[in-house]
Amino acid sequence: MEYVIEMLNIRKEFNGFVANDNITLQLKKGEIHALLGENGAGKSTLMNVLFGLYQPEAGEIRVKGKPVKISDPNIANDLGIGMVHQHFMLVDTFTVTENIILGREITTAGSIDIKKAEKQVREISERYGLSVDPQAKISDISVGMQQRVEILKTLYRGAEILIFDEPTAVLTPQEIKELIQIMKTLIKEGKSIILITHKLKEIMEVSDRCTVIRKGKGIGTVTVSETNPNELASLMVGREVVFKTEKKEATPKEDVLEITDLTVKDTRGVSAVNGLNLSVKAGEIVGIAGIDGNGQSEFIEAITGLRKAESGSVKLNGKELINQTPRKITESGVGHIPQDRHKHGLVLNFPIGENMVLQTYNKRPFSKNGILNFKEIYKKAKSLISEYDVRTPSEYTLARALSGGNQQKAIIGREVDRNPDLLIAAQPTRGLDVGAIEFIHKRLIEQRDNGKAVLLVSFELDEIMNVSDRIAVIYEGKIVAIVNPKETTEQELGLLMAGSNRKEAGEHSNV
Ligand SMILES: Nc1ncnc2c1ncn2[C@@H]1O[C@H](COP(=O)(O)OP(=O)(O)OP(=O)(O)O)[C@@H](O)[C@H]1O
Ligand SMILES: [Mg+2]
Repeated sequence: MEYVIEMLNIRKEFNGFVANDNITLQLKKGEIHALLGENGAGKSTLMNVLFGLYQPEAGEIRVKGKPVKISDPNIANDLGIGMVHQHFMLVDTFTVTENIILGREITTAGSIDIKKAEKQVREISERYGLSVDPQAKISDISVGMQQRVEILKTLYRGAEILIFDEPTAVLTPQEIKELIQIMKTLIKEGKSIILITHKLKEIMEVSDRCTVIRKGKGIGTVTVSETNPNELASLMVGREVVFKTEKKEATPKEDVLEITDLTVKDTRGVSAVNGLNLSVKAGEIVGIAGIDGNGQSEFIEAITGLRKAESGSVKLNGKELINQTPRKITESGVGHIPQDRHKHGLVLNFPIGENMVLQTYNKRPFSKNGILNFKEIYKKAKSLISEYDVRTPSEYTLARALSGGNQQKAIIGREVDRNPDLLIAAQPTRGLDVGAIEFIHKRLIEQRDNGKAVLLVSFELDEIMNVSDRIAVIYEGKIVAIVNPKETTEQELGLLMAGSNRKEAGEHSNV
């Protein structure tokens, strides 16, 4: 049996906190090996150990049977190990090629030979079916394209073993299909892959084996063809997981959010939202379904004050809020779980505890006469951390050090706890494990049952269908249909999202 990588009995601590406790993972040549575990279980930590970013306190790593010491990422590269991180590490102002060759520049007579590098990038991208524009600037390309750049970067460095840390969490369903194809091509070309994902469907679809870890401990490795999603979920969580959210009938009341004729331009100045009309009532959850790029980001940014609207009206409880500052909008009773948790959700270099009062720190009891009361701030943070099961060594840990999913849970806790009249949740369960998703869905429904308005934007059709009371389909910057989740199907929604009109999509009621 040939293992290309063996991680044996690995232990990794952070100041006494044990993130990896005696974990073993063995990767066979030519397999896709899934790594599954709850948020904070220690998956990224284990992979960072393999990539040389962390040194383990105990255990052994072998590459093709030979014990190795991977003291930094350059050594990992030399051993043929490449990693595509959970949060990308690209230079925004550089081109695709410049990012790929960074640190490995080819020079001719002392100057960088960019033409030659571009040619090489083209060659690799064709071979692995990863089409990109070598001359495009990172800030101008989509997240899916940025991810391809990260993959190319590892291949350019000669990676034989690729680690993907939650690659699909940031992708749209179409991009996920493409990535799965790319992974299959990589395997055909002789590579081996470790794949971290919370989506059990993806594990079932592409991987050969799956190693499960729980709270830092190895649970075991299963052969995917001999297991099923329910078994995987209970192995990882340690209990049965309910996939369908229970909820009673909604009792919608007055309009909380009323949007009329909203128009918004995108970053390039092209119209992205084109006369959008929508209302969300107290006591209901309205889900926005749409294919990425149909104006949903610009729409949410405009109504939360992060982007200027060109025209139209956005009323909250009858009060005009268009083009107000984010703070003014927040204070008028809007909660926002942002799509980009790093840009708009957290101050990464602040302790997680202080991040949990970002909207309220200037109010009593957290401050008085301009002086912060850290005792009260941390008291509040501590209770939210326990209520929302944010797994962190302590409330003083920097937000940066929390696992991706736990950063997300912290933001959700902060926004829901303020009990806003309108809660806007953009991709709220992105990167969360199945248990955490179940918990978050319950909290959204609870807000609704307490008479609040909830606006949910998600690319996960399952989530839209399960949680929403009404589904608004967005297409080319307009709401083109409102459907009742009980009377529609994923197929019908898919057609509407692709812009086919009501008749073609079949009968559905307007609720
Ligand atoms: N640099 C660090 N300093 C302190 N604690 C850390 C650090 N990095 C990770 N941890 C802690 O180790 C634990 C495991 O984190 P890790 O990022 O490996 O989880 P994960 O399984 O990748 O979770 P997710 O699915 O949410 O990404 C977490 O409790 C995290 O807070
Ligand atoms: Mg992680």
